[in-house]
Amino acid sequence: MPQSDQQQTLVLIKPDALKNSLTGYVLSYLSEFHTSLRFAGVKIVHVTGMLAEEHYAEHRGKLFYPSLIEYITGVIHYPATPERRRVIAIVYQGSDAVRKIRDIAGPTNPLIARETKPGCIRALGTLAPIKDGKGATIGERMDNLIHASATLADAEREIKLWFKPHDIPPSMHPYATAACGEHYYFSKGKLTTRYSGGSICVLAPGNVAWKSDLEALTLIAGGSTASVSLETVVAKYLVNEEKENP
Ligand code: GTP
Ligand code: MG
Repeated sequence: MPQSDQQQTLVLIKPDALKNSLTGYVLSYLSEFHTSLRFAGVKIVHVTGMLAEEHYAEHRGKLFYPSLIEYITGVIHYPATPERRRVIAIVYQGSDAVRKIRDIAGPTNPLIARETKPGCIRALGTLAPIKDGKGATIGERMDNLIHASATLADAEREIKLWFKPHDIPPSMHPYATAACGEHYYFSKGKLTTRYSGGSICVLAPGNVAWKSDLEALTLIAGGSTASVSLETVVAKYLVNEEKENP
């Protein structure tokens, strides 16, 4: 785990913040001047279903899960303009980064954020009804503008899920990396070490990857079970690819 003065944390500026033109507000609030945290990585991501489902895996099966996936993939806020569906993913680094950003983000529920912590970012969020197929309200969606890693362990999982080592300057790499010794391809939900038509090469010999991802790929390619799913490893390699799910 990184020392506390080099902590890193993942922030996502979600589609509702982009749609409501709150990007500048969020970035100002999280700026080095206010937080003493520095950018380690930034990318614009068209969020695939695979990435969304891995990111929010802990909520699978809950009533609000389908609407949460539609929300983070941008379907809710940009129903007619798929090209505008994206989030801004940022890695911030510095002392106490996880706690500092969670504190500025505020409570998960925007209503509670407004009541208990006026001025926090999520106080500007909204609650929206979740409807069933017949139009009846069955719950509420929390459009809360940003995601922020909740713990150091979550930050590690999430940074490795969204970012490749090459997205972050080498001097700021938070976790161990290693050079890949194999070709790894992804196609139709499966990992292979041989190219077949339509598959995407996620890693080639010499490419630098998170060491834990390479360990997982070695196990999966050998038919064993790894501590993380194949989707968790490959989702970031499919980000902004022409083919979302080869
Ligand atoms: P994130 O930073 O987005 O991960 O939020 P969080 O860490 O404050 O909350 P959590 O990880 O528990 O939930 C992830 C997202 O799921 C939240 O941002 C909400 O949009 C949604 N969510 C979580 N709990 C509930 C709930 O009880 N009801 C509803 N409707 N949505 C929820
Ligand atoms: Mg969370």
